[in-house]
Amino acid sequence: MVLLDIKNLTLEIDISGSWVKALDKINMVIHEKQIHALVGESGSGKSLIVKAIVGALPVRWRITADRMTWKGQNLLTMTVKARRKIIRKDISVIFQNPINSLDPLLTLGQQLQEMLPTDNLTKTWFWQRNKQKRELAINLLHKVGIKNHQLCLSSYPHQIPNDVVQKFMIAMALASEPKLIIADDPTRGMEVTAKTQILKLLSRVNQVKSTSVLFVSHDLLAISNMASYMTVLYCGQTVESGDLLQLRKRAFHPYTQALLNSAPSFRKDLPPKSPLSSLDGTIPTLHNLPIGCRLGPRCPRARRECVAIPQIRRVHTHFYSCHFPLHWEAK
Ligand SMILES: Nc1ncnc2c1ncn2[C@@H]1O[C@H](COP(=O)(O)OP(=O)(O)OP(=O)(O)O)[C@@H](O)[C@H]1O
Ligand code: SF4
Ligand SMILES: [Mg+2]
Repeated sequence: MVLLDIKNLTLEIDISGSWVKALDKINMVIHEKQIHALVGESGSGKSLIVKAIVGALPVRWRITADRMTWKGQNLLTMTVKARRKIIRKDISVIFQNPINSLDPLLTLGQQLQEMLPTDNLTKTWFWQRNKQKRELAINLLHKVGIKNHQLCLSSYPHQIPNDVVQKFMIAMALASEPKLIIADDPTRGMEVTAKTQILKLLSRVNQVKSTSVLFVSHDLLAISNMASYMTVLYCGQTVESGDLLQLRKRAFHPYTQALLNSAPSFRKDLPPKSPLSSLDGTIPTLHNLPIGCRLGPRCPRARRECVAIPQIRRVHTHFYSCHFPLHWEAK
């Protein structure tokens, strides 16, 4: 079953008085029980997509799409209230820089208990319900590997270390028993043990609860261990998507290949702002977007035709947008 279906999502933002397409015809489909990776260099628009899905963008920005549905319901035309209800019940987001999405004036315990759905409370009286909420919160903290629940629940966000905040955010995400968890770069800057714990946790939730995960990351090793499907983004355009093993074996888009080559055998993380070994130059800023295929100025295969935006082509469940894809000579 398709949960999230995005077709031709375009986002225009105003920068110094002129409108630029920060996202240009983004396509992405997330299925039930799927771990879907969203990858791309720093600045490619991954977090903007996350914010567009949950409606967390400034209202003055222009957002359009041919389709943006959650289980068939149109997210763009529904009321703000209806959309909030879906986000609260079915979609949990772990934003990049999670500390910013916590309320600095409330303890973590207050914030976690607030997230617990009241439907799960079986007790009648408010003091019994408060006790039950606390028990559920403690249970969630243990699940995500936070042993000192007492300290965590009574602390304010700035009082606990980053990796604990990240685990706490996962507990918050699990509290509503969502259908989809969106994790925006949840392991950035973490040391290996904490990173491994987070990844195992997300994989376990996916397996045990059948929760889908949209895993946004630079970490190709983590992605290869977790995800079954991958969408590759370059400079606000989706350039390729498909089954992860298929893409690793036979990428059609030069950018996907460059990304894979930059992390040989998927053995190492690709830090933000790192140059891609097989491509010259860096990702353009939104002020200087090339026309047509945005990879053009960096692409070794570019030709005159690339000033026109390439159409999406499809081979079974594999999609790519390139006028001169890799391996095409052989087809
Ligand atoms: N509030 C904003 N105002 C203006 N430009 C913005 C804003 N937020 C993002 N951008 C621009 O949009 C582009 C995409 O940003 P985004 O944060 O989505 O990238 P990203 O792929 O998530 O990068 P990273 O991997 O570093 O998190 C960048 O060029 C960024 O500068
Ligand atoms: S369309 Fe052209 S510039 Fe873009 S990736 Fe393909 S070959 Fe390179
Ligand atoms: Mg980001």
